[in-house]
Amino acid sequence: MKLSIAALLLAIGSTNGFVANNKQSLSPSLLSSSSSSSSSSVRLGWTELFARKPFITGNWKLNPQTKTEAIDLARGIAASITDKSPCDVGLFVPFPFIETVQQIVGDKLVVGAEMITPEVKGAFTGGISPVMLKSMGIEWALAGHSERRTINKETDEYINAQCRMLIEQEMNVVLCIGETLEEFEKDLVGPVCEIQLKKGLAGIDADDMDKVTIAYEPVWAIGTGKVATPEIAQSVHQKIRAILQEMYGAEIAEETRVLYGGSVSPESVDGLLAKPDVDGALVGGASLNAKGFGRIINFQTVDTPVEV
Ligand code: PGA
Repeated sequence: MKLSIAALLLAIGSTNGFVANNKQSLSPSLLSSSSSSSSSSVRLGWTELFARKPFITGNWKLNPQTKTEAIDLARGIAASITDKSPCDVGLFVPFPFIETVQQIVGDKLVVGAEMITPEVKGAFTGGISPVMLKSMGIEWALAGHSERRTINKETDEYINAQCRMLIEQEMNVVLCIGETLEEFEKDLVGPVCEIQLKKGLAGIDADDMDKVTIAYEPVWAIGTGKVATPEIAQSVHQKIRAILQEMYGAEIAEETRVLYGGSVSPESVDGLLAKPDVDGALVGGASLNAKGFGRIINFQTVDTPVEV
């Protein structure tokens, strides 16, 4: 369980049971939904027990095919989020659907872009600037997804420019990293993650790390149905946190959320999220089914909520 002693002590000492221990909290409206306990006998909610509040987000990629389908899917997903849902929720959606989806989900979850162009204006046909997105109320974007790295040939340097541009605009980025099957088999997971992290985050100061979420997505697990075991995910996430510690110090390493992505399903989510360094999930295929994604959002862990 991602419960730090400090978090528990804070919670016990607090008058309303809410522990604002995650610098990466989303919008104030999302925050307030989990901070509204008025009871004097404090019952800690599920999320307050996590040192880092879990974040589960869909990545729709080039789906669904029509606006009507996107509306239905967004409605279904929003309906599955309740006060008891144990995490912040997000959806990274194709540009044409962003505004509509945002209107449908309101402040129940954050809507983000699947990529950005690291420029603010000019002769970049097809480009999408973070300034444009921000003017529409979109404040999150993915960077470095393996499909963008391979299909669109985005380099670590380009991905770094995207991260820096988002941060410059006071926006949030989910930086995706992860090794190929070949690299996994050659035991290169640590070095690959280290290179991608260091290059992706180059020039980003510790002060801005509250705008950064990391997603570990082994390429061999994406869209293959071969989800990493909770043990593999935990061991890589631990390595990632150690690299973050080396780069930014222990406090920031402890506060940064590291999500797992790659064939996450309703069946695998509970085991993954039970691991102490797995702070959420980036979900592709399974986020296209509202019922299944609803189960993922409302994951269960073996730990039971505590009465204080
Ligand atoms: P998947 O995709 O869940 O379909 O494996 C994950 C991702 O690409 O982010």
